[in-house]
Amino acid sequence: MKRLFTGLQPSGDAIHIGNYFGALKPFLGLYEGYESLLCVVDYHALTTIRDPEVLRKNTIHVAKAYLAVGVDPSKAIIFRQSAVAAHTELAWIFECLVTVPFLMQSHAYKDKTAKGLEATAGLFNYPMLMASDILLYDTDIVPVGKDQEQHLEYARDVAGKFNRSYSKIFKEPETHIQKEVAVVPGIDGEKMSKSYKNTIPLFAPEDEVRDAIMKIMTDSDATIPQNVHAIHSLFKNSSELDSLYSENKGNYKFLKDALANDLLEYFSDARKSYNTLSDSKVETILKEGEERANSIAEAKMREVRKAIGVR
Ligand code: AMP
Ligand code: TRP
Repeated sequence: MKRLFTGLQPSGDAIHIGNYFGALKPFLGLYEGYESLLCVVDYHALTTIRDPEVLRKNTIHVAKAYLAVGVDPSKAIIFRQSAVAAHTELAWIFECLVTVPFLMQSHAYKDKTAKGLEATAGLFNYPMLMASDILLYDTDIVPVGKDQEQHLEYARDVAGKFNRSYSKIFKEPETHIQKEVAVVPGIDGEKMSKSYKNTIPLFAPEDEVRDAIMKIMTDSDATIPQNVHAIHSLFKNSSELDSLYSENKGNYKFLKDALANDLLEYFSDARKSYNTLSDSKVETILKEGEERANSIAEAKMREVRKAIGVR
């Protein structure tokens, strides 16, 4: 069976419906066909989070979200990056192989520092930690969004350089770009994103979800509120929506209520399981995943340490 690996940053904000349609749902449709690893990359999030409580809470939140939408922990290895020390160990080894000008080409690094994020060495080396995540497990495919394409190239490049410099130990993984995934618009019509503060949270209490929907921006002269309609089309087919929107032209409050009901209905099972899953249950699942991940990673590291001449 081919191996699939994906990493999720516990970056400190609530999972929203853009994350669901862009990442969680595509993962659900894919993971059972592979030996899948789902890694909450808390050391990557350390490039942006300095609050230990936020990092801890959000790690649980992200893992719980995947479990709540239906990822079966007996069919995937779900674990924390920081629980498998081999990730950071291998990252150092890769950092000693690649050059500063090579890392300097990173679009993500340039974008993030241009937006004001502190240019730490960790942020600069981010692609090598990500390469370690992937290469430690002889990963065949890595499902990611288009913005992660260059990070995958970094992983393939460093695998090649290691294999040529020492011995052929690493597999060069394929990218699996989720082309069919549309961009989910936010309540202002722009891309839904925590950085634009325009999200509809997936697991917040019902009144908060409804509040976010009531705040969807509408044009005063439009009969069909485009922003409401665009989000609604994720939950209902176009013929159902056409009649609903033409029969209720201009009645924004009614249409928003209808959207809220459909959205809550659509996520009803996921929201119930999110609320019944305890943090300690999630911890237990992460612990089991950690043991399985560690045994694969350790075997790989024994080969690597031998190849490079350390203990
Ligand atoms: P982020 O936390 O913004 O890095 O996003 C995590 C995952 O959710 C990535 O796979 C993104 O591609 C996906 N995602 C985030 N926002 C959206 C959106 N508005 N529409 C579709 N996918 C999204
Ligand atoms: N950089 C990815 C992101 O921001 C997260 C990530 C870290 C990842 N390691 C990974 C994704 C390994 C896939 C595979 O979304």
